[in-house]
Amino acid sequence: MREYKDEIGRLLEPLVNLTAARIMDLLEVPPEPQLGDLAFPCFSLAPVLKKSPAAIAEELSRKLSGQRGTFWEKAVSRGPYLNFFLDPVVFARDTLARILKEKTDFGKTNIGQGRTVVIDYSSPNIAKPFGIGHIRSTVIGHALYLLYQALGYRCIGINHLGDWGTQFGKLIVAYKRWGNEAELLADPVNYLFQLYVKFHQLADKEPELEYEARFWFKKLEEGDAEAYDYWNRFRQMSLDNYNQIYDLLGIKFDFFHGESHYNDMLEGVIRLAREKGIARESEGALIVDLEPHGLPPVMLQKKDGATLYITRDLAAAIYRYETFNFARALYVVGAEQKLHFQQLFKVLELLGFEWAQNCFHIPFGLIRFKEGRMSTREGNVIFLEEVLQRAIRMAREIIEEKNPGLADKESAAIAVGLGAVRFGDLSNDRIKDIEFDWDKALDFSGETAAYIQYAHARICSILRKAGGAELTWSDDAAAYLQQEEERALVKILALLPEKVLASAEAYRPSILARYLIDVARGFNRFYHRCPVLGSDAALQQARLLLIDATRQVLVNGLALLGIAAPEEM
Ligand code: ARG
Repeated sequence: MREYKDEIGRLLEPLVNLTAARIMDLLEVPPEPQLGDLAFPCFSLAPVLKKSPAAIAEELSRKLSGQRGTFWEKAVSRGPYLNFFLDPVVFARDTLARILKEKTDFGKTNIGQGRTVVIDYSSPNIAKPFGIGHIRSTVIGHALYLLYQALGYRCIGINHLGDWGTQFGKLIVAYKRWGNEAELLADPVNYLFQLYVKFHQLADKEPELEYEARFWFKKLEEGDAEAYDYWNRFRQMSLDNYNQIYDLLGIKFDFFHGESHYNDMLEGVIRLAREKGIARESEGALIVDLEPHGLPPVMLQKKDGATLYITRDLAAAIYRYETFNFARALYVVGAEQKLHFQQLFKVLELLGFEWAQNCFHIPFGLIRFKEGRMSTREGNVIFLEEVLQRAIRMAREIIEEKNPGLADKESAAIAVGLGAVRFGDLSNDRIKDIEFDWDKALDFSGETAAYIQYAHARICSILRKAGGAELTWSDDAAAYLQQEEERALVKILALLPEKVLASAEAYRPSILARYLIDVARGFNRFYHRCPVLGSDAALQQARLLLIDATRQVLVNGLALLGIAAPEEM
């Protein structure tokens, strides 16, 4: 759209008292396609010209009547707007040529070149199962990673594992008292979790358990070899388990810097807070008052010397800035930690770090899996692994039914199953709570990944039937695409780059997800109306090019959400 806006900017500049750049900024996309493709609102000219915006629009359209540009074919006034209609042939030619030339790069830009975004996401807590609470962070964080990468940023993905804190004292005590090596090895994470649950059940009756746990955590903090060995083992076992899930999801982190990574930087943070005069003793603990900023105080150190989650986050932020020199740091963490991040960013600011203003909490709502379909275990925990396996199983059943002859059912089932979970999350407004409905998420005709994947597979099948040879663009093809559905589809396809940008900038993968539904829908409308194979040779070629470009947009868009597009399903 830039070139189009540019031409209109230069066209109007001598006619109105505004710079071309300002005109370009003012241009809007009308809500209805019948109103044109770009609209220039005349409101801001009214006070200067002392005429109504409608009269100004009218006058401009008279001046431009009979003219046409490179991209536009007519300009018509409608109320306070001057509406430009793009030349559909030029538009189709430009758009399709560009998509087919750029291929997997279509949608990408390099506006982020030379800048770094650090993304803190997933970040489960060691020795606890990877619960559904962390699904959202994983899926949203990964999509933001891919989106920023597509904008040319250097992305650093960090998994801020919860691998430090008093719970490790509890685990060590529980394992020393009740642990069994064979059971641990059989299913480490679940077993550790059971021990943890047992500890809490008994700690009510036996208060000395808590005491012992504190003792062991203290030993751990002091570097005691036995305590360290337990911790390290539990950590590694959990990590192995999480890595299976990340592998299945195709997610890699640049760093697994958990909370423990910052242990030897905590003293420095505390010293700095004292030097800057923002920390004070309160009942033996060290705190930072945030009352003047309307926030509750932050505790940096307990009276027994133990540090806290936020102390480690302060160290982590400083470390990340010093190591990666980020332009932005994103924390993809549930909305329930809003206060934590407000406090974190405020303390960083009080410490004198100007970059604190480039740190952002990207919150999201809760996810609930619709009852009756998943067995919840003790402690009401749903395991991500089970969610994913269940989704794959259901996808397999559907594919089995719909397409029994399919050669590679397994990879299609994985793509569709995982796509359902991811898209079920990403297509919703991030901040809202989600109720995940299995049947809806896998509905091939609903607003789902499967719907988009199916449109893609359908296109692949048409292309195969047409001979499967690589198609090369030819400029005359554009003139054949005259149906309303064809032109509407081209217009949708052209939007991918701006949707990618908007999704990243607003930290809302849902923008891209909703857009892909529109693409699939646009394709289905087109296909319903316009047969591809068997039409006149030149028309068939033009339509093949159109669907090939559609295929490319679907593949590229899904890839940015971490969703695969199987060629057959
Ligand atoms: N492990 C934490 C939790 O599960 C999330 C960590 C988020 N990242 C951070 N830098 N605080 O609640």
